[in-house]
Amino acid sequence: MALSLTFHTLLSVLLFHVSLVSTAKHSLHHHTTHSPNHNQHLQQAYRALKAWKKVIYSDPKNLTGDWVGPSVCSYTGIFCAPSPSDPNTLVVAGIDLNHGDIAGFLPEPIGLLSHLALIHLNSNRFCGILPRSLANLSLLYELDLSNNRLVGPFPDVVLSLPSLKYLDLRYNEFEGPLPPKLFSNPLDAIFVNNNRLTSLIPRDFSGTTASVVVFANNDFSGCLPPTISRFADTLEELLLINSSLSGCLPPEVGYLYKLRVLDMSYNSLIGPVPYSLAGLGHLELLNLEHNMFTGTLPLGVCVLPSLLNLTISDNYFYEEEGICTNLTSRGIAFDDRYNCLPNKPLQRSQKVCEAVLDHPVDCHDHECSAMAPTVAPSTAGPAISPGPAYA
Ligand SMILES: *[C@@H]1O[C@H](CO)[C@@H](O)[C@H](O)[C@H]1NC(C)=O
Ligand SMILES: *[C@@H]1O[C@H](CO)[C@@H](O)[C@H](O)[C@H]1NC(C)=O
Ligand SMILES: *[C@@H]1O[C@H](CO)[C@@H](O)[C@H](O)[C@H]1NC(C)=O
Ligand SMILES: *[C@@H]1O[C@H](CO)[C@@H](O)[C@H](O)[C@H]1NC(C)=O
Ligand SMILES: *[C@@H]1O[C@H](CO)[C@@H](O)[C@H](O)[C@H]1NC(C)=O
Repeated sequence: MALSLTFHTLLSVLLFHVSLVSTAKHSLHHHTTHSPNHNQHLQQAYRALKAWKKVIYSDPKNLTGDWVGPSVCSYTGIFCAPSPSDPNTLVVAGIDLNHGDIAGFLPEPIGLLSHLALIHLNSNRFCGILPRSLANLSLLYELDLSNNRLVGPFPDVVLSLPSLKYLDLRYNEFEGPLPPKLFSNPLDAIFVNNNRLTSLIPRDFSGTTASVVVFANNDFSGCLPPTISRFADTLEELLLINSSLSGCLPPEVGYLYKLRVLDMSYNSLIGPVPYSLAGLGHLELLNLEHNMFTGTLPLGVCVLPSLLNLTISDNYFYEEEGICTNLTSRGIAFDDRYNCLPNKPLQRSQKVCEAVLDHPVDCHDHECSAMAPTVAPSTAGPAISPGPAYA
């Protein structure tokens, strides 16, 4: 553990402090006792990178122009470090081609780079699917493939990486359901927004270690299951923007006591805001914009101690409790436009609001069962609950 931490710390220095990179690389070169030709790991890396270069079809910044010959540690974007198991041997420990605009594939021989701890390929044009051989990267800690053109079902191969903590697959074209195992892995951050994924929280998963989960802008549908509470011990940011969510917000969201950011905007959520949200003592940002919430904005939410920004615009709220009517005076960014609030400016028309008031929602009829993938379809449309369903 200590060894791998040192390894990652060293890599962070290599990769994140760009001005240090060349110096660090040079000193590493000097300290190595073996020439690259006798280092079997670097020879394998050479084979892998040669194969990779063959399937790079466009490299407008000429980043791989110097990917020639066996000295892979001097290639642009390739970072070497002493092997965690043998400090006298250099291995390829990181790849950083972020913002390279490179078009190509990720070929099978990438699996030969078995000491990689970091892969940063964000903002390129890599297409196709992830090779199965990635499963060989047992030290891989950070995998950032965001903003590429990767396709196919969710790449299960990432779930077999025992050291992975940071998984960023956003802005690709992965489609289909999220595998339950994604949430049982010891990941710290999961970014899957802006793909074509179709299922939301899997029905059965035992718990998760993730502190950041971003699902926004997928083709999800259905409701948020009560099992969301299994994220409670770690989850700090939950972004479910524009995810085709319907049904009521389950009171279990209020069990996510570590949440700092909860963004449910641009969905079709109905019913009241569960009073349990008043338990989110660390919540700084709550965004419920553009849903079909009805009823009262509960006082408990408005007096949350860490709250900085509350957006409830574009819903059907008809009442704000107590101090909720005057949050801006307490320095909280607050937007309650386009609701059915009697004494506030810029609200919906009385006609629209009355139509909604005539069709109450009972959240007990819309329970998002952990057994069923979706709620029963709402026939009444946006409507109002007769009382607080979740007190
Ligand atoms: C790309 O880089 C290589 C090595 O740095 C250089 O030899 C080559 O001339 C470059 N190609 C272009 C088109 O700039
Ligand atoms: C996995 O890595 C080892 C070296 O550590 C290598 O010999 C083997 O060929 C690799 N397997 C794949 C599938 O790339
Ligand atoms: C919501 O996501 C869809 C793709 O799933 C996208 O076309 C649309 O522009 C998004 N809407 C907003 C408001 O971001
Ligand atoms: C408050 O949050 C909303 C929605 O997330 C955002 O659009 C707005 O800019 C934020 N306001 C401030 C002052 O941060
Ligand atoms: C809001 O609160 C401020 C400061 O407490 C007060 O001066 C103002 O009159 C209040 N406005 C309303 C509409 O209650």
